[in-house]
Amino acid sequence: MAWDMAEAIAYYKKQGAPGDQNALVALLREIRQEQGLTARALGALAPALGVKESYLMAVVRRYPSLRPAQEPVLELCAGPNCGKSTALAALAERLAAQSGVTVRKVSCMRLCGKGPNLKWKGRLYHRADPALVEKLLKGEKE
Ligand code: FES
Repeated sequence: MAWDMAEAIAYYKKQGAPGDQNALVALLREIRQEQGLTARALGALAPALGVKESYLMAVVRRYPSLRPAQEPVLELCAGPNCGKSTALAALAERLAAQSGVTVRKVSCMRLCGKGPNLKWKGRLYHRADPALVEKLLKGEKE
């Protein structure tokens, strides 16, 4: 049986949501898990619970477990030196699109002599090439 938001709302209302914050948070966690706590989901939930959307957003901000999961971001240096590697950027964007990773071009990382530079999961990589990008995005290298 497919998950149904209306059923979940009805269930957690019986548990005391939105007045009972534990029930409300449990409902929000379930929605997050099933479809994501998007602005659209919160917009549909607020009138169903008789609360303002801004209230729900405040609850989401208050509970770290309700915040959206961090999507991996591949940061490519687009400074004057590293930015010359257009083939690397094109490959990174193509692979990222396939794997759901966000590619962000950032300004000079101030390590121009070691470029092209990129940052993945908080770690800086120097002399990046297409093979490195492929390994990182395929999870073969951390
Ligand atoms: S251009 Fe990439 S570190 Fe400066």
